[in-house]
Amino acid sequence: MDNIFEEVMEEVKNAVREFRDSRELYEAKMRFLGRTGRLTALYKKIREIPAEERPSFGQKINALKEQIEARFAALEEELRQKELAEKLAGESVDVTMPGRRAFVGTLHPVTRVRNMLIDVFAGMGFEVFEGPEIETDYYNFTALNTPADHPARDMQDTFYVSGGFLLRTQTSAGQIRLMEHKKPPIKMLSPGRVFRSDDDATHSPMFHQMEGLVVDRHITLCDLQGMLDEFARRIFGSGSKTRLRPSYFPFTEPSVEVDVSCHACGGKGCPLCKGTGWIEVLGAGMVNRRVLENCGIDPDEYTGFAFGMGIERIAMLKYGINNIKLLTENDVRFLGQFRD
Ligand code: DAH
Repeated sequence: MDNIFEEVMEEVKNAVREFRDSRELYEAKMRFLGRTGRLTALYKKIREIPAEERPSFGQKINALKEQIEARFAALEEELRQKELAEKLAGESVDVTMPGRRAFVGTLHPVTRVRNMLIDVFAGMGFEVFEGPEIETDYYNFTALNTPADHPARDMQDTFYVSGGFLLRTQTSAGQIRLMEHKKPPIKMLSPGRVFRSDDDATHSPMFHQMEGLVVDRHITLCDLQGMLDEFARRIFGSGSKTRLRPSYFPFTEPSVEVDVSCHACGGKGCPLCKGTGWIEVLGAGMVNRRVLENCGIDPDEYTGFAFGMGIERIAMLKYGINNIKLLTENDVRFLGQFRD
């Protein structure tokens, strides 16, 4: 009877020689320790042996059970360690491998220049006001002293939409919208998209303008030039100067064209400034008294100046971009060059 224990232990040794995973090990364990396993069968044998031998037989089964349990516990632990090691090896990271660089976008040059301009003028106390892109004839032209038969309308080829509306051709329309609601003192900056039926290397049917308007008592052309000097220095460099040339806009009187000294040659003359040393950057003037009247502001009490510039034009001059199309094609090889 005694060698039954040795036999079982031998079976255990054979059974555990080959198992591939924890499931197979568990199955092997159940064959000995499970409810229908080898040990249960041995316990049942107790009834068959003489009563006086039963205690020592029972002790032997218990000892065997402990031995088998210990054996499987050791194997389970061994397997757990092995599986853990395999898992860690599978998840290992090669820290010497070069990482994948995240793609970082940049601000569009038009957005950059727009932000710079807002920065310059906000520092002088201007507030940003944005008018609608779809306008009426009244705000875009008539109230700006450009009635229906006015020849200046031909300066801007207008896109008309249904219902008597049009796509604004100039952010100047925002001047009227603001002055109808706000009375002087006014210091407004109005950035936005404008639309004209125009298309070549320096003109696009959609582009951006930045409008400025100041209305208060005793405002003069000198105030305009002082602010524009500061603008020129901040955008084109500290040595920049401005000059005003007489011009014509229906909504300003007098009207001026503003040139900035060429930042590429410092004013000596180069291809960028076509040898003149100066570059035209914006239109401006003293607000026409008719425009103030149209908005219910007394032109004998208040005066003002206004200016309007093309943001694409400023960006092209500042960054040396020769074709406006580059600004709408969204080629990342082009856009990626504008990083801080
Ligand atoms: N609105 C003009 C244009 O689109 C630019 C302009 C000129 C705006 C003179 C002004 C101004 O406010 O005073 O060409």
